Amino acid sequence: MELPHHEDVSPGTGGLAPRAWYAGSDAAVLSLNGSWRFRLSPGAHGLDESFAAAGFDAAAWDEVVVPGHWVLQGHGAPVYTNQMYPFPVDPPRVPTQNPTGDHLRGFDLPGGWPADEDAVLRFDGVESCARVWLNGTPLGDFKGSRLPHEFAVGHLLRPEGNVLAVRVHQWSSGSYLEDQDQWWLPGIFRDVTLLHRPEGAARDFFTHASYDHEAGTGTLRVDSDVPGRVTVPELGVDVATGQSVTVPVEPWSAERPRLYDAELATAGERIPLRVGFRTVALTDGLITVNGRPLLFRGVNRHEFHPEKGRALDRATMRADVQLMKQNNINAVRTSHYPPHPAFLDLCDELGLWVIDECDLETHGFTMLGWRGNPADDDRWTPALLDRAARTVERDKNHPSVIIWSLGNECGTGRGLRAMAAWIRDRDPDRLLHYEGDPSCQDTDMYSRMYADHAEVERIGRGEDEGPEARRRLPFVLCEYGHAMGNGPGGLREYQDLFERYERLQGGFIWEWIDHGLLHPAFGYAYGGDFGEELHDGNFVCDGLCFPDRSPSPGLLDYKQVIQPVRFTYDPVSGTVSVTNLYDFADLAELAFEWTYLADGPAHPVSGPLDVPPELGPGESVELKLPDPPQAAGGAEIRLHVSAMVCEETNWTSLDHVVARADFAVTPRPPVPVATGERPRRSGYDVALGPGRFDARTGELRALADVTLTAAPRLEVWRVPTDNDDGAPWQPDTRYGPLWRKLGLDRMQHRLDGVESDADGLTVRTRVAPAARDLALRTVYRWTSDGTALRLAVAVTPEGDWEVPLPRLGIRLGLPAALGYAHWFGGGPGEAYPDTGSASCVSRWNMDVGRMQTPYVRPQENGARADVRWAELRDGFDGAGVRIVGDPEFWFSARRWSDAELDAAAHRTDLKPGPAVWVHLDHGQRGIGSQSCGPGVLSQHELHAEPAEFTFTFAMAGRGR
Ligand code: GAL
Repeated sequence: MELPHHEDVSPGTGGLAPRAWYAGSDAAVLSLNGSWRFRLSPGAHGLDESFAAAGFDAAAWDEVVVPGHWVLQGHGAPVYTNQMYPFPVDPPRVPTQNPTGDHLRGFDLPGGWPADEDAVLRFDGVESCARVWLNGTPLGDFKGSRLPHEFAVGHLLRPEGNVLAVRVHQWSSGSYLEDQDQWWLPGIFRDVTLLHRPEGAARDFFTHASYDHEAGTGTLRVDSDVPGRVTVPELGVDVATGQSVTVPVEPWSAERPRLYDAELATAGERIPLRVGFRTVALTDGLITVNGRPLLFRGVNRHEFHPEKGRALDRATMRADVQLMKQNNINAVRTSHYPPHPAFLDLCDELGLWVIDECDLETHGFTMLGWRGNPADDDRWTPALLDRAARTVERDKNHPSVIIWSLGNECGTGRGLRAMAAWIRDRDPDRLLHYEGDPSCQDTDMYSRMYADHAEVERIGRGEDEGPEARRRLPFVLCEYGHAMGNGPGGLREYQDLFERYERLQGGFIWEWIDHGLLHPAFGYAYGGDFGEELHDGNFVCDGLCFPDRSPSPGLLDYKQVIQPVRFTYDPVSGTVSVTNLYDFADLAELAFEWTYLADGPAHPVSGPLDVPPELGPGESVELKLPDPPQAAGGAEIRLHVSAMVCEETNWTSLDHVVARADFAVTPRPPVPVATGERPRRSGYDVALGPGRFDARTGELRALADVTLTAAPRLEVWRVPTDNDDGAPWQPDTRYGPLWRKLGLDRMQHRLDGVESDADGLTVRTRVAPAARDLALRTVYRWTSDGTALRLAVAVTPEGDWEVPLPRLGIRLGLPAALGYAHWFGGGPGEAYPDTGSASCVSRWNMDVGRMQTPYVRPQENGARADVRWAELRDGFDGAGVRIVGDPEFWFSARRWSDAELDAAAHRTDLKPGPAVWVHLDHGQRGIGSQSCGPGVLSQHELHAEPAEFTFTFAMAGRGR
C-alpha cells in the first residue's frame, strides 16, 4: 500500500538542501508572520486540495496567528504525554483522527523586490508535517518540526496577490521521531519568511574560527560555495573565502563572550558575521575549550511560553538567556531539539555553552522493549540523517555551540550510528553527545541522567564499571536535579562532587521552566486538564522557573550552589577567604563587599573587600576583615559577603549580586527560660501567664486576648511534594504514598493526662494512626514567667517506624487577622534541609500570602529555615503573637489547612479561610529528587527518634 506523504518515512520532498541560518544580510526579506486564514479538519482522509488553488475564497474561515499553535488559539486542545505515544504504535501509520490545519495567506512583494530573481521560502518550524503550495503550485512537503525547511520560489512570485497555502497534519510518521516529554502542539509555530536570493549570493557558508591558547592567536577561515571576501575590520583581516588567516585575538568563552564583527561579501550579498574564536577538544580525557577544562553549570531548556507554547518571541528568548546568566548558569542543553535559531545568536552574544540537540526522540518504544525502534531501522535512516543535517547545517556558525547531541532517549541503533558518522565528517571541530547508548561508541563523553551521588562519585574516582573506552571519557550529567514542584534537593552535594573530581564536568538541571499553560479555570494547566485520554499529569511542570518565568526557590538554590566565587570565614582570625571558581575569567568584573549585621539589617556596618581583580581561575586569597561591632544587648552578629558586577553588562544591571555568603560571627545568645508562674484553675479554665487552657484537655485556648483557632499540637504530616511522591517507576521507597498508607495525615491524639503542679502544666498524649501500633508519645510541658508562655515538647517514638517522618513539630491556628509575618532566620524564601542554599539569616517580614511558593500543583512549601523567632501580627506593625524557638526551627504559615492544601489540584483551588495555620517544626525531611531521580540523602532524612524542643509564646506589637 502506498502511504500518503504524511505517513511515509521520507523526510520530505521538493525542498532545498539545508544550510546556515542567519539574519540581517542586505538581501531583501519579507516576513510572512501575522494573521493567516485557518480551517481545521478532524482528519487527513478525503481532504481535497482546492483550498490551495488560485482564487479560493477563504473569507469564511477563522484566523490564527503565525507563528502559533492552533490548539492554543481556540481550535482543538493540547495533549501532554511524557513517553507514551498518544496513538497506537504502528509506525509509520498514524490515526485517522489526525487534526489537520489548512493555512492561507496572501501577500504582495514590497516595492523594489526583484521579482524575477531567485527567492526562498523558509519555514523555521512546523509541527509535525506540512505540504506547501504557492500560487496554486505544489512546492513539496516536509517533516522535522523544529527544523528549518526551504523551497525555491522565485519563479512563482508575482508582484501582487501571491497566495501561500500550507496544510499541516498534527500526526505524521515524524511524530514517531518526536516523542519528547512535552505538550503535543501542532501548528506553524516559528517564523515563515520569504528571502530574496540575489544572483551571486552564497547558498551556504561555514565559519571556522579556532583559538590557539598557547600562541594567543585565532585562525579564521570562512568556506563558502560562492567565492567572496571576509573582512574583520577590528582585526585588520581581509581575506578570500576558503583562505585561512591567523591573528592575535581575544578568545570567545561563555564567561567572556568576545565576538568580532565581520562580513562575508560575495557578488550578490553582504552577510554580517559575529565571529568568536574558540577551540573545542577532548584533551587528556576532558572536555576543553581553549585548552581549559569546563565545568557545566547547566540547564535543560525546552522552548515554552504559558500562552504561546513553543512559539517564542525574541524578547522571551533574551529574557531566558539573561535570567540564566543572572543565576550563574553557564550552559544550555537545547532539550530535545534545536531551539529557534535566534536563541543561539543570544547565546553567542551573552555567553552560554550550548549542547545543540537534534530533534529526535523515540522514547515511547521503550514500552515495547524497543521493538520497532526507528533509530534501529534502515528505512528510517534517511529521516534521521536529514534531521542531523538540518541541525548541523543550520547552527554550524555559532561559537556557543560546542557539542552536537544526536537526540534524546532513542535507544540504540544503526540510524544513530549513521548520524554520528555524518556529523563527525561534516564538523570534526565539535564534540558529540548522546546519552542513550551505554557503550558510548559514538559519543565523546560519558553522559547520564539522574545518577545518584554515590554513583557519580564512583565515576569521578574512575571506579565505574563498563566498557574500557567509556572509562576514559569525561563525565556529564545531561540531566539531574529534577526540578518538579518543591525541589530539587541535593544540588549542593552534586556540586561538591563536580568540584572535587576532575572527570566530572558538571551537569544540566532538568529543566528550565514549568510547562504550565495559562488556563481560565486552573491558573496553569497541566496534563489531563484538557481531557486527554492518556496523559502524565503535572510531570510537565518540572522547571526552575514557574510558567511566568519567575524564579522558583530551586533556581535561587542552584544560583547559590553554582556561584563562581566561594567564600569561607574564620571567626577566630577574622579572615575571609575568596576563591575564584570561574573556568576562564579573573575577578575584574566583580566588586566585593562585607557587611556586619546585628540582629538583622537595621544598622549594618559595611565596606569594600579588596579582592585582587587579577585573581585567576582556581586561585584563592585570604583577607582580614575589620573587627566586628560590639553586640549590644546580646544581639547576634552576622557577616554577609557579596560579589557584585561592577559594570553594567548585556545580561544584568549594575550591582547585581553574583555570589554571596552569610556567616555567624557570634553565637546565638541563650533563650531565657520562662518559669516561675503558677497555674490558676477556675472551673474548666486554667490560666498560666498569658495562656488560657482547657483544664479537661490541656489544650491552649488563648494567648492574652488572642483566641486560637486551633490549639498547638504535634504534627508529623506534610502534604507530599512531587519528590515525596516519586515517579511511578521509582523503587518502592517512595515515602509520600507510604506516609499516606500509614496514616500520617490522620494521626489521632489520645489524651493520657493533664497534670497541674506548682510550676506549670503537663499534658501527656499518644499520637498514632488508626490500624497501627506505632506511635509518638508526646508530652507538652507548659510554664510561664508571667509574661511569656513556654512550651517544651518531648517526643518518644514507639513501635517500628520503618519510614522517615515528613516533619516533626507543632501546628496551631491563629485568627485570620494575624496574617503578617516577621521573623529572624532564614529567608526571604523557603528552604528545606537539602534545598536551602539561598536562604540567608536576617530579619524578614511579609504577608503570609507571600510566604507561599506557588507550585503549579499545590504541595508542601514555604518553610523558612533556622528561625530564631517569628511573629504573626495584624498588619506590618499591628499587635500579635511572638514565638521564640529553642533551638531554631522551621517556620511556615498559610491561610489554608494542610488538608485543603492536600486536596488542591491547582493553585486556584486554594482559598484563604478563617485562620492562619502555623507550623513550628523542629525537623523537616529533605526533598531529594525522586520525582525522577534519587531520593533524599541519608544526612537529610528525618528519622523518628526521641526529640525535645521548646517554643516560647508572648504577645508582640503595639503597646506591649
Ligand atoms: C528524562 C527525559 C526528559 C524528561 C525527564 C523527566 O528521562 O530525557 O525529557 O522526560 O526525564 O522530566
